[in-house]
Amino acid sequence: MDQLVDLAAYPINRPDSPEYAALVADCRARLAAEGMFELPGFLRGAAVAQAVAAAAPAMATDSFRHARSHNIYFRDSVEGLADDHPALAKVETVNHTLCADQLQGNPVITLYDWPPFVAFLAAAMGKDRLYPMEDPMARVNVQASRDGEALNWHFDRSEFTTTILLQAPDQGGELEYRKDLRSADDPNYDGVAAVLRGEDPQVRKQTLKPGALNVFRGVNTLHRVVPVSGPVERLVTIFAFFDRPGVVMTAKDQRGFYGRATASA
Ligand SMILES: [Fe+2]
Repeated sequence: MDQLVDLAAYPINRPDSPEYAALVADCRARLAAEGMFELPGFLRGAAVAQAVAAAAPAMATDSFRHARSHNIYFRDSVEGLADDHPALAKVETVNHTLCADQLQGNPVITLYDWPPFVAFLAAAMGKDRLYPMEDPMARVNVQASRDGEALNWHFDRSEFTTTILLQAPDQGGELEYRKDLRSADDPNYDGVAAVLRGEDPQVRKQTLKPGALNVFRGVNTLHRVVPVSGPVERLVTIFAFFDRPGVVMTAKDQRGFYGRATASA
């Protein structure tokens, strides 16, 4: 595993060491203060190159192009909000997805299936335990964004998103976010509308680096990926974890996200 992950810098294979404790404490502090942490060089350069090369043929021919028009809540209506409120303005998202069953032998699958990885993520997020998904498609995805495409403004439906960028485009592809735009008590619809209009000075932009492990708390932080420009596609791996074991998607959700289904119901 040392060939994939820089275990000298990030000793996630040594959970009883003081270095591990220090790393976990640092990740937790950054999550609390900044709503994310990033570990540059987590996946070694050679492993990143191998992951890109392994994904490229299937991405070119067999990936699912997912284009949708959505509001930032991914819901048709929101209670207490008029249907024409500017916070419900529709945005466009386009990407191309490879599922875990199309990534067999890819280093990102090897990493996902390595128990110390999920144990470290749970510790860094302050959770007792996390579990990999058992869904043959949704466990790990590699998403490509091509010239003019991006993941548009949204709030995440899960508490944390865990990703590793594999390839950066020539231009664009940064993570743009407005931390703590809403809270459990205050949906702040006018603030949401201001971000969508480009009028919030607290919006920040993070340039992600290939190989860096990124954990992002996106439930109350509005965020998007800036549209890509140029011939080099942006490639990112998304790892799915849950608080309970055995999570799978329904066939309906699989078709919605991936255009096909392995589940029977
Ligand atoms: Fe997100």
